[in-house]
Amino acid sequence: MKRSGVGLTAEHATGALRVDGARLWRSLMELAQIGATPKGGVCRLALTDLDRRGRDLVMGWLRDSGASIEIDGAGNIFATRGGRDDAAAAVLTGSHIDTQPSGGKFDGNYGVLAGLEVLRTLNDADVVTMHPVTVAVWTNEEGSRFVPVMGGSGAFAGVYTLEHLRQQRDIDGISFGEALDAIGYAGDAPIGGRKLEAYFEAHIEQGPILEREEKIIGVVTGALGLRWYDCTWTGQDSHAGPTPMEARRDALLGASRMVEAVHALAMRHAPDGRATVGCMQVSPNSRNVVPGRVTMTVDMRHPDDERLAAMDRELRDTADFVARELGLDCDLQQVDHVPASRFDPKCIDAVRTATRALGLAHREMVSGAGHDAIYLARIAPTSMIFVPCKDGISHNEIEDARPEHLEAGANVLLHAILARALGSDSAAGASGIDHG
Ligand code: GLV
Ligand code: MN
Ligand code: MN
Repeated sequence: MKRSGVGLTAEHATGALRVDGARLWRSLMELAQIGATPKGGVCRLALTDLDRRGRDLVMGWLRDSGASIEIDGAGNIFATRGGRDDAAAAVLTGSHIDTQPSGGKFDGNYGVLAGLEVLRTLNDADVVTMHPVTVAVWTNEEGSRFVPVMGGSGAFAGVYTLEHLRQQRDIDGISFGEALDAIGYAGDAPIGGRKLEAYFEAHIEQGPILEREEKIIGVVTGALGLRWYDCTWTGQDSHAGPTPMEARRDALLGASRMVEAVHALAMRHAPDGRATVGCMQVSPNSRNVVPGRVTMTVDMRHPDDERLAAMDRELRDTADFVARELGLDCDLQQVDHVPASRFDPKCIDAVRTATRALGLAHREMVSGAGHDAIYLARIAPTSMIFVPCKDGISHNEIEDARPEHLEAGANVLLHAILARALGSDSAAGASGIDHG
């Protein structure tokens, strides 16, 4: 919807504009009821019925804000508040509302609801922007139920075809496509191809640095690269009693050595290397059978792509060595690879300028986690805003963040968005108090 005429425009004091932190918090707490877990977290895996209920709630709020809603073929939701020039490229913000199995209330949800809070704030003050402002809810960011991680934003950025996404299967054999259709969120809007002025994403840090340094805002300059693997160890099922120790082909022993080696590998690439085995299925999983088959995952990350490639080589050497030593077969497949990314200097600057103008203690940082912003950075000027989370703990039900920090981050988001959305004629001095 095109906006025109009166109201509080850039020429007025949008520099004084602030989000309603209490309203943001209430929305976060209400969304967290859907899939709430006993320890105060959330389990709302991508494309489950709980995800549908979360989407329904958030989409209702976005619609109530007056935004026009579109859903694309990957289930990504876009809610647009029109500007003076609806043909102008949109300033996009957003994140995801799918969670880990033992996830928290803030990972992803904060970025979406901070975007909603920006729309509500612009409405309350009757601000007219030049560019449309769009809030996106990206599908399957977590990569927990379906690989690839950041699948919806990846498709939007042209990294994956819709067909590729729809074919991916969860551990029970249900495809992404079947699950998306079942919750009624396969939309008809084209995937990607939107004109974008910029993308900003607010997120909790998910690590300990901001809290440790008593900073409120992380000005995010880029993100680590990651590689994901599926690994299958094959030996032979045999009786736990009569089978002599030297005659066994124990797939779990191979997997166990790999777990140790993966940890040691990351330690060799300290302080920035990370490596994790997060999933394992043991077959036949019977206490008196030597396991003949184990599948496991490996997640490796490093901010330097060459170091990450070196970690990849070490992982493959380890798999070969352990398999030979124990008489096992090891099938190691890389299933996802996201190179390290650098965000856009002007968008980073918009975040930094808004943060300074708001008088918030901050530092620059590189994200250790994957975010939809990583794929958006391939097609639009992008940056991110981090706020502290308690004890740096995330992907955990006890994940926590302070309301005043979430509010501060949303104010930075508001002013970074305004710096790009008000339009070149009026942005200077109007959106972030001081754009010098
Ligand atoms: C997403 O949460 C990731 O960093 O793996
Ligand atoms: Mn996230
Ligand atoms: Mn996450």
